[in-house]
Amino acid sequence: MKYLELAGVQQAVSNVVVGMMRINDKSDAEIRAIYDAARENGINMIDHANIYGGNHLCERRFAEAVPLSASERADVVIQTKAGIVPSPEGTHFEFSYDELVTQAEESLRSLNTDYIDVFLLHRPDSLVEPEEVARAFDHLHESGKVRAFGVSNQTPRQMELLRKHVNQPLVANQLQLSITHCPIIAEGISTNMQHAEQSVVVDGGGILDYCRLTDTTIQAWSPFQKGFFDGVFLGDPDFPELNAAIDRIAAKYGVTPTAIAVAWITRHPANMQVVLGTTNPQRVADAAAGSEIPLTHAEWYELFRTAGHIVP
Ligand SMILES: NC(=O)c1ccc[n+]([C@@H]2O[C@H](COP(=O)([O-])OP(=O)(O)OC[C@H]3O[C@@H](n4cnc5c(N)ncnc54)[C@H](OP(=O)(O)O)[C@@H]3O)[C@@H](O)[C@H]2O)c1
Repeated sequence: MKYLELAGVQQAVSNVVVGMMRINDKSDAEIRAIYDAARENGINMIDHANIYGGNHLCERRFAEAVPLSASERADVVIQTKAGIVPSPEGTHFEFSYDELVTQAEESLRSLNTDYIDVFLLHRPDSLVEPEEVARAFDHLHESGKVRAFGVSNQTPRQMELLRKHVNQPLVANQLQLSITHCPIIAEGISTNMQHAEQSVVVDGGGILDYCRLTDTTIQAWSPFQKGFFDGVFLGDPDFPELNAAIDRIAAKYGVTPTAIAVAWITRHPANMQVVLGTTNPQRVADAAAGSEIPLTHAEWYELFRTAGHIVP
């Protein structure tokens, strides 16, 4: 397992992370099995959000199922997110001081812990007042409730606006990324190509390079999904060439296709993390094996091309 540093986080973090978005209807034993598989395979980082399961439910279910001793708590890195507000009228996004501090404090109670290692702003709030975010971050940091901060689904300019005001480094940007859903990578491969949809900048402009330039760790969410929560590409008959390539490369390295899907992301020199959503302990173990596979340039581009992207 490969580990990397996130500024402000006390231990190095694994580049494969277990996400807890889908545990709301799992039993305690099933949640413990996911956690145990992660720990046994070198994963030491767990991803949550206030919104998973609705109103902190997945955070609470995790804490109920996996009570952490003081030493185990010190060994793992718990990340959660705030800024999505569920309400009967419809969800909205809000980065006000009160909302961020209230959500962080409720996450601490739900997770049954004294501190959050990494606190991310979940989805950009168009009404953001960055001075308010700075005040919230200062309070959470100085009170010891949060150790490090980051964002999710943000453009370079949105991050720049925050960076003008907040006093802590933004250590991560969590973005959707899989072999089949990879605009943050594909745009950079086909820039300035007339009529090529892949050439249209949908990420607000070079977020991959911006994160590399600013030492922001990209955390890839939905690493197995074809698109936006519409099923996995592994074994999908709509991707015959991709799956044939994945199977052949998996056999070469002696791992499962799941590991190759992870490796396509971890192989990128941007030093990204992969946030798994599986609730299947065997898949957690299979995915962890993709942490450090040295895919060749030819293999990496073959996977990109057979997923349907343009290599001009
Ligand atoms: N920042 C954001 O905006 C954002 C958005 C979404 C998610 N996230 C984070 O990212 C994590 C991952 O997201 P995700 O769950 O959408 O991603 P994912 O890992 O791509 O998808 C996992 C889902 O695919 C299923 N699956 C079926 N076959 C699979 C296979 N061969 N390998 C792996 N999974 C297979 C899993 O079912 P089984 O459980 O049966 O394996 C599970 O339902 C979440 O837990 C959350 O922490 C962040």
